[in-house]
Amino acid sequence: MSNTNYIGKALSRVDGPAKVTGAAKYAAEFNVPGLVYGYVVSSPVAKGKITKIDAAEVLALPGVLQVFSHENVPMLALLDRSYKDDVAPGGSPFRPLHDAEIKFSQQPVALVVADTFELARYAASVLKIEYETVAHETDLETKRGEGFEPGTGKTGFVPPPPPRGNPDKEFENAVHRIDQEYVHGTQHHNPMEMFGTTAEYLDGGKLNVYDKTQGALNSQRYIRQIFGLSKDDARVISKYTGGGFGSGLRPQYQLFMAVLAALELKKSVRVSLTRQQMFSFGHRPHTLQTVKLGTNADGSLAALHHHALHETSRFEDYTENVVNWSGMLYQCDNVKLGYQLAKLDVYTPQDMRAPGAATGLFALEVAMDEMAYAAGLDPLEFRLRNYADRDQNLDKPFSSKKLRECYHEGAAKFGWEERNPAPRSMRQGNMLVGYGMATGVWDASQQKAGAKVSLSADGKLTVQSATNEIGTGTYTIMTQVAAEYLGLPLEAVDFQLGDTDFPAAPVQGGSWTAASVGTAVKNACEALGEKLLKLAQQMEGSPLKDAKFEDVEFVNGQLRLRLDPGQAVVVRDIVQASGETKVEADATAMPNLIKQKQYSLHAHNAVFVEVQIDEELGTLHVTRVVNAVAAGRIMNPKTARSQVLGSVVWGLSMALMEETVMDHQFGRYVNHNYAEYHIPVCADIHDIDVLFVEEEDDIVNPLGVKGIGEVGMLGVAAAITNAVYHATGKRIRELPIMIDKLL
Ligand code: MOS
Repeated sequence: MSNTNYIGKALSRVDGPAKVTGAAKYAAEFNVPGLVYGYVVSSPVAKGKITKIDAAEVLALPGVLQVFSHENVPMLALLDRSYKDDVAPGGSPFRPLHDAEIKFSQQPVALVVADTFELARYAASVLKIEYETVAHETDLETKRGEGFEPGTGKTGFVPPPPPRGNPDKEFENAVHRIDQEYVHGTQHHNPMEMFGTTAEYLDGGKLNVYDKTQGALNSQRYIRQIFGLSKDDARVISKYTGGGFGSGLRPQYQLFMAVLAALELKKSVRVSLTRQQMFSFGHRPHTLQTVKLGTNADGSLAALHHHALHETSRFEDYTENVVNWSGMLYQCDNVKLGYQLAKLDVYTPQDMRAPGAATGLFALEVAMDEMAYAAGLDPLEFRLRNYADRDQNLDKPFSSKKLRECYHEGAAKFGWEERNPAPRSMRQGNMLVGYGMATGVWDASQQKAGAKVSLSADGKLTVQSATNEIGTGTYTIMTQVAAEYLGLPLEAVDFQLGDTDFPAAPVQGGSWTAASVGTAVKNACEALGEKLLKLAQQMEGSPLKDAKFEDVEFVNGQLRLRLDPGQAVVVRDIVQASGETKVEADATAMPNLIKQKQYSLHAHNAVFVEVQIDEELGTLHVTRVVNAVAAGRIMNPKTARSQVLGSVVWGLSMALMEETVMDHQFGRYVNHNYAEYHIPVCADIHDIDVLFVEEEDDIVNPLGVKGIGEVGMLGVAAAITNAVYHATGKRIRELPIMIDKLL
């Protein structure tokens, strides 16, 4: 695939105009006729039960239609049906309005439905609910030593491998030793689009459900199970998603509420959450980690220990891969990894961009920096000395790994060799200057996915798959794939997604959409191509009569012989000659497990950052970042670069700003709003440079793409933390690094 017309080209988003003109509609923007509005009432207490709900006063307000709570939720939602979703972890998912029990602060306890949103919100504010509280536990610090190992986790969870070598003895014998704890608090996803569902009630009682989600099919399966609906009864539509980052991988409670109210009231209902309520479900878990490293005199790693303990809810065992990366990122024969959970009275944590790796690699990569200083080595040189050419966790070679090139190309672009290794040695005016670096690694995965293509007689190609677009560029790169394989102009291709009537695809997450849906689109285009060749051969005087599929190619709207391009048929003419209005094909793509299971499949990156810190004020700016990424084929350098830019901004945010603070007296997050939960603004962002290192890989999938949505974030928080040490001599091991830690 060296000569491509579209794949690998820096094209602008095909959905860009719709987004900037407002033509793109989000779940809570479908103003269907007869719409009424639900407002969710959230529990002010963290644990206990509801003893009384007095809805009489609220129901007497003109325009209030109903108050739903556990007292009157209809049987249809209470039957012992499964509330599982595709990415549910072990345990039993939270069931909204199911009973009187309060399991976490901000738990939804009632839904007020009214003619207007404002009335519903007002009525919710005066609804009288009484609670009986019992003591809650929300502080992970009190759970040290009480963690447990999760049995089974959600899809993709891999328990840490058993210890290898003699990690305890080799640590004791090591020449240099590091033994430290690394901590970060809870963080909440804050996509621009808040969660909302518009359930449109159609004649005959069917529903069109416009949902904010990362997986329309996941939402559909969820409500089908709960309400006993057929696939036909409830179509879920999600054409645009205003950011997900993992928060939309699982159906959220507003979906349940909107569908419940629509079915009960036989009306179209919208339920949208407020920004404050966005802090009432999944989050990146507060995590305590210890890393112990031992090195030999030559700087080679003699022993590595990494242990993590993080929170989960009482009702589910949320899992993520926090420590496993430490067993495969560097060469080390003596490794011990541990991973434990502790139950608290909080909502279940949820995948948040690069779940597990973002936090696990923060700990590992700061520890690696500490060890580089202890061993008297440059942090980059230390990593190169311990470079892993094989995945020791799996005892398998990598399908491809251009991390060394990321280090070299990133360091050169950044000017790493100008770094004076001594802390506090570099200055610019009254600013302390620090250079820091770190490494990242993420899975290159492919999931089963389907796609359907349809070519009409006017030469337009429609491509459909039930995947989602969370802002990553899916519309664009799938259009590129289809245009590439069928030799059509981009404008002739209409890629459609986010509809449960389309061929099945997994939730958009895990950085697997380009690989999974991309391969499905390619396969569907090739299936269509074979059909078109057969039809072309039936045309009178066809120049392709005896051609095999391998002998032909689709270029510039023509189907032609590779070796004799003059022998060609116009693709549009094939459809017209067929006598049909369109020619269709569909395909499902599966990972080639026989090939893949012999290898470790991963994307890598290396991050270099410069910070400048005002010595007197403690103010910190990340003035330069170079992020060098090896993620296989880059389908579109423009959308891919945007992904990595966003990742770097998030890494900076994780390092310096984000933390949801729990007031343990009330078991409640106190900064659940944009005023007090800080994320960067433009003034916080300076120079960010993204490099893509050439990496070919025909094992990961036929497109050679590894995915770019998550890897770019990795290493950023650690590189900043390491640069802070270099600038100031202060070793910080707890995020976020706010001004108090620098003074
Ligand atoms: Mo990602 S955390 O799989 O949306």
